[in-house]
Amino acid sequence: MDLQDVLDEIAIEVRPLLGRGKVADYIPELAGVDPQRFAMAVQTAEGEIHQVGEAEEPFSAQSVSKLFTLTLAMRYEGDRLWRRVGREPSGTAFNSLVQLESESGVPRNPFINAGALVVTDVLLSRCGDALGEVLALARDLSGNAGVSYDPAVALSELATGHRNAALAYFLKSFSNLDNAAPAVLETYCHHCSLAMSCVDLARAAFFLANGGRTLSGELITSPNQAKYINSLLLTCGVYDAAGDFAYRVGLPAKSGVGGGIVAVMPGAFSACVWSPGLNENGNSLAGTHALELFTTKTGMSIF
Ligand code: DON
Repeated sequence: MDLQDVLDEIAIEVRPLLGRGKVADYIPELAGVDPQRFAMAVQTAEGEIHQVGEAEEPFSAQSVSKLFTLTLAMRYEGDRLWRRVGREPSGTAFNSLVQLESESGVPRNPFINAGALVVTDVLLSRCGDALGEVLALARDLSGNAGVSYDPAVALSELATGHRNAALAYFLKSFSNLDNAAPAVLETYCHHCSLAMSCVDLARAAFFLANGGRTLSGELITSPNQAKYINSLLLTCGVYDAAGDFAYRVGLPAKSGVGGGIVAVMPGAFSACVWSPGLNENGNSLAGTHALELFTTKTGMSIF
């Protein structure tokens, strides 16, 4: 099967869905993104990259960046990380406050905002320059030295992210932040503002399809840690849509409110799709459909 033909077909078939869904306007700087945009890229284990649409155009990675922060935090902390964050799907919205109270300040998983704030706190404590390390990893994995943060997006979220501020202070009240809440929020909003394209992100996630090694053989995580991260992606990466996404797409994946979704097929490929209109769970509506079409047409899913 020619994967390029598959991507070309998908781009046509998702067209009626573009513009449906809602752009993430709770971050004012993202409100103006054109909901008609669509792109997809697939990095294969054979070293080929297939792409369709505006696949080299950077967009706001948002929660997809949590893949990089978790990878770094697992490197630094190993299993100690799980004293402070759980490994279970939350079944609630990514920015929900309710569970944190009843579960005594231990976020359900590292991908919901509360869990990602704890991961960011770990990096602030362990790295001399947390943002610099996240950026270096994103550049190294994508092979694109031009990847950078978008300060306008970061500051826009920092100025309006009252819910994340509430989560951070809540975590602090349970002694599950070592650093000051404003410092954690500033770093978190900056890593979420990473601007990367589908090609960048498909390449960057490839180590998870390859037992922890990049295409060129660089060891990013142990094979076991790659397994752990993929498991977390499958169960928690798309938040309270985890069940529906596993049913429809059948791949470990991480979404972001910028409209990106990265997906991984261990042993075969990594992919990234971008379409800014979001469904009610905050995941790209057309992007989810495109990935469902991809695994259905190719028969390549983990199930
Ligand atoms: O904290 C936030 O709300 C955003 N910076 C990231 C949320 C996000 O991308 C959730 N993903 N679908």
